[in-house]
Amino acid sequence: MIRLKTLGLAALLAFGAASAARAQEVKTPERQSWTFAGPFGHFDQAQLQRGFEVFRTVCANCHSANLLAFRNLSQPGGPSFSESQVKALAAEYTVHDGPGDDGAMFDRPGRPADHWVPTYANPEAAKATLGAAPPDMSVLAKARGYETPLWRSLIDVFTQYQEAGADYIYSLVALGYSDKKDPNHNDYFPVAGNHIAMPKPLSDKQVDYADGTPPTVDNYARDVTAFLTWVAEPKLEERKKTGLRATIFLLIFAGLMYFTKKRVWADAH
Ligand code: HEC
Repeated sequence: MIRLKTLGLAALLAFGAASAARAQEVKTPERQSWTFAGPFGHFDQAQLQRGFEVFRTVCANCHSANLLAFRNLSQPGGPSFSESQVKALAAEYTVHDGPGDDGAMFDRPGRPADHWVPTYANPEAAKATLGAAPPDMSVLAKARGYETPLWRSLIDVFTQYQEAGADYIYSLVALGYSDKKDPNHNDYFPVAGNHIAMPKPLSDKQVDYADGTPPTVDNYARDVTAFLTWVAEPKLEERKKTGLRATIFLLIFAGLMYFTKKRVWADAH
């Protein structure tokens, strides 16, 4: 009986220790400074253009972005490529279209109105090759985040922290592959005991930057994260501007109401 109890206690302790150890293995993403953070947040156009280059030459080999249309890339507030650049870019891709007049499907060069052409026709095909389906990148920056303790979330309400998705993606691809022996280990991947089906996607000098920005993993990760944030919320700047205007209006209105109240009640002694 006593032995059973001690065994049970030992098992409980071991379980506790193991789960504590497991919980500690998932690191909390590092908070980065982003141009799109805070009430004055805005996208850096040059950064979005570099981020797109990283997305298109690296990430898009596996990930889709089904909500992104080529024409979005020339819209204001985004990477703002010229319309002719976007036309040329779209034409580099082959779009499966149809049926034509003869009832058959056909391939044609892409047009600005087309959506991003995925490498894999569907998630099943991607999974069959890669071992897991890479999530679509259309809203990934909004769909990911991480847990914060309550006290931190309360502060975050006031600092308007909304970059959890960006911080997670940056940390995952730039800092997470810390185990030299296991290419599928990632400190920030919260499921499957840190085992991620995506091996380190970035290495130095992998993508050519036309604007002289150093071609490092750190810059690639930062730039592609900014790009993915824009993809997930192309109206972010507009939303922040509206919020700021509404706040200023309400402050002025509150002031006016204060003096109105004073005037209305001035004679009521
Ligand atoms: C070789 C294919 C491949 C490339 C290239 C690739 N990924 Fe992935 N990615 C995957 C797969 C597969 C998964 C799913 C991992 C899993 O579920 O274990 C994934 C998952 C992710 C996740 C999600 C993790 C989560 O929380 O679910 C992020 C973020 C991500 N990739 C970012 C990127 C970025 C950014 C790039 C480009 C710099 C990139 N990936 C390039 C295959 C790839």
